[in-house]
Amino acid sequence: MTESHTSNVERTEDPGRSQFVVVANRLPVKLADDGSWSLSPGGLVSAMLPVMRERTGAWVGWDGSAGGNDDRFEFEGIRLSTVAISQQEHDDYYSGACNETIWPLYHGSIEAAQFHRETWAAYRDVNRRFADAACAEVAEGGTVWVHDYQLQLVPQMIREQRPDAKIGYYLHIPFPPLELLARLPWRQQVLDGLLGADVVGVQTQADARNVLSGVRRFCKRDDVTFAADGGIVRSAQTTSVVKAFPISVDYAAIAAESATDDVDLGVKRLRNELGDPEVVLLGVDRLDYTKGIDLRLKAIRELLIERRLDPRKTAVVQVAVPSREDVLGYDEVRNRVEQLVGTINGDFGELGRPVVQYIHKSLPFSELLVLYRAADVLLVTPFQDGMNLVAKEYAASRVDERGALVLSEFAGAAEELTDSFLVNPYDTEGLKDQIEAAVAMEEDEEQRRMAAMRTQIESNDLAAWAKAFLALLAMA
Ligand code: G6P
Repeated sequence: MTESHTSNVERTEDPGRSQFVVVANRLPVKLADDGSWSLSPGGLVSAMLPVMRERTGAWVGWDGSAGGNDDRFEFEGIRLSTVAISQQEHDDYYSGACNETIWPLYHGSIEAAQFHRETWAAYRDVNRRFADAACAEVAEGGTVWVHDYQLQLVPQMIREQRPDAKIGYYLHIPFPPLELLARLPWRQQVLDGLLGADVVGVQTQADARNVLSGVRRFCKRDDVTFAADGGIVRSAQTTSVVKAFPISVDYAAIAAESATDDVDLGVKRLRNELGDPEVVLLGVDRLDYTKGIDLRLKAIRELLIERRLDPRKTAVVQVAVPSREDVLGYDEVRNRVEQLVGTINGDFGELGRPVVQYIHKSLPFSELLVLYRAADVLLVTPFQDGMNLVAKEYAASRVDERGALVLSEFAGAAEELTDSFLVNPYDTEGLKDQIEAAVAMEEDEEQRRMAAMRTQIESNDLAAWAKAFLALLAMA
């Protein structure tokens, strides 16, 4: 989510092997055309970077550039092993198979998923290269932890080459129900790929059930056992555990950074710059059609029209982090969002005082913290979302136990953050009612709900998530 330049990436020649290897499409840092490095976008990196800082190990992934060669670097004590991706592979594997086939399909097909044999061939080939790079990196008997929807075939590909390794897989986005998975021409390859792992982790219990139903329907396995929060899949050669591990944030680090005088001062300054409004509504999202940014702006517009929100006393801040700008569907959602921002400001803004402050860029985490602390209500309204770590970051940052969260029922975080104002984002009237209720909430109720959400996150933080996953994997 944040763009901060970093200079501590250094090339290394050391070909040594590691006991612990993370494999993800993106490395934690990305390389710009001018040769500078910055933190990579997205929830996966913001979660896995603190996990890796606590451990010694290697991270296999792409540096975000087109072309180049496989290379090795070191970043904050983490060994980086880059997998080069050509321009053609960027188009076919990354934009095509990953983000025009799997991403929309797994998010409920809100945008029509594309199915192309050529892009799937590129997906398979690039997955093979990631698997080879992981096998070259991992020491005898070591652990490989593969991440996310871009690399679903990798666990099985590693298993074939390295039966000595412990293999974990974690999916950061939702896993689709049978009716949607059934459309994927390569559904069986995907499931067989995942089942190469000893432990397949997903965000929610619904996701775990979906994986198991998919396996039962489309794979030939001796035995598929359902349990309360997951299940076990056995074949003659392998046993995989499928289980929900809801991902989280580094609660203590966020709370500590948020409790500083700098943040307090920043909050005062920001609210003042916004015209000292009574109510600050905030959205922070990658600019993605799954996030429901347009829906929430539509709801806000209607609340303003109906005078249920007073335009002179309300400020809306929407941070939209640029994302996948060459991929189908992203341009349209940007247009829809920007048109709504223009309409609201045209109808309700004053000179020098727009109602909606919209920025299309990523912000450093220190600035996001100020926004979180300044916001009376955070709006998280995705149509479908694996977890949504912004919701958890917001609650972790509210050391003052103030602020309200409006949260989509379709975000993984809704299973845990039941003290938020839960909404069905498709129900505009319901969404409006919940925004209004969150704004109008009494202070003691606000404190009770925020304290409950914070306790939930504190006792299920990022370290606990990684520990639980890796403990199960160690037993495999
Ligand atoms: C989500 C995905 C990640 C992905 C991130 C950013 O969080 O789960 O795997 O890295 O979005 O998207 P991008 O396409 O820029 O990597």
